[in-house]
Amino acid sequence: MYPIKRNRRLRTNEAIRSLVRETIISPNDFLVPLFVVEGKGVKEEIASMPNYYRFSLDLLENEVKALWILGLKSVLLFVKVPDNLKDNKGTEALNPNGLMQRAIKTVKNVCPEMLVMTDVALDPYSSFGHDGIIENGKIVNDDTVEVLAEMSLSHAEAGANFVAPSDMMDGRILAIRETLEDEGFVDTGIMSYSAKYASAFYGPFRDALDSAPADVKDIPKDKKTYQMDYSNRFEALRETEMDIDEGADIVMVKPGLCYLDIVREIKNEVDVPVAVYQVSGEYSMLKAAAEKGWLDHDAVMMEQITAIKRAGADVIASYFAKDVVKLIS
Ligand code: PBG
Repeated sequence: MYPIKRNRRLRTNEAIRSLVRETIISPNDFLVPLFVVEGKGVKEEIASMPNYYRFSLDLLENEVKALWILGLKSVLLFVKVPDNLKDNKGTEALNPNGLMQRAIKTVKNVCPEMLVMTDVALDPYSSFGHDGIIENGKIVNDDTVEVLAEMSLSHAEAGANFVAPSDMMDGRILAIRETLEDEGFVDTGIMSYSAKYASAFYGPFRDALDSAPADVKDIPKDKKTYQMDYSNRFEALRETEMDIDEGADIVMVKPGLCYLDIVREIKNEVDVPVAVYQVSGEYSMLKAAAEKGWLDHDAVMMEQITAIKRAGADVIASYFAKDVVKLIS
């Protein structure tokens, strides 16, 4: 009587396959990163990120409306700061009329229901391209955390729903939470980049914002003193648990594909939503391979996004969000 079980029965045709499918991608899964620049009428393609753009505020309005119509209801804002406004302390980050603060208001104005998350880190504002303040050739933790808390407050005041600290300083979640509570922003959430690895996959993003660590004598050329060593696994759990204790509402693993083991492990351990950031280098790799005709863009994109969700992602930050939603709708 062997075999009583034939696993292929559940794969016989698309109807049965879709009936028993475990992981379904929907627009609700996505958080859409958006790059914002000064100017008017600017929609410039990022050289190392084909079909991804920086928008000035006027064109950001159209983009946000288009996302909403597609069913994409959450955005993550990043700004490209003019060089003359950058300094070691990221002073411009606290400007109540800075580009980020105006971008938040622009999105909320054109689409009040859109969930607005903001990047909190000093690198776009830092003359050295680092996520923290530099003293004597080192990225100092506690002084940086103070600025990050003020920056978060400034984003909350401008109308951000969530702040997303991507800097990897110690103790910043608690400092941000306390500052928000003290100032009455009890409903402003924190999505912590809790397990963020020092990754070479961030290259295209740093092109997009012109935010790569500067090649200056006696200044670290990489972010390895604050972002995590990609050889480590237990450390990711430690970082994540601490951020939850400090008040993170959502935790994140970043990058995505190379770190799906970490995603699954964290998803099994914690009871808050887990976000995964499929980063710029992951996007650009596929775009490049598809341009060469070496990979089927849409098929590989769906396989990757599905793998990220299957690994345990409740939220996926991805530059493919629009492409995916257009494909599946
Ligand atoms: C900055 C920040 C980075 C990314 C998100 N926030 C770059 C970095 O840490 O150097 C990377 C995103 C991407 O590559 O898509 N704190």
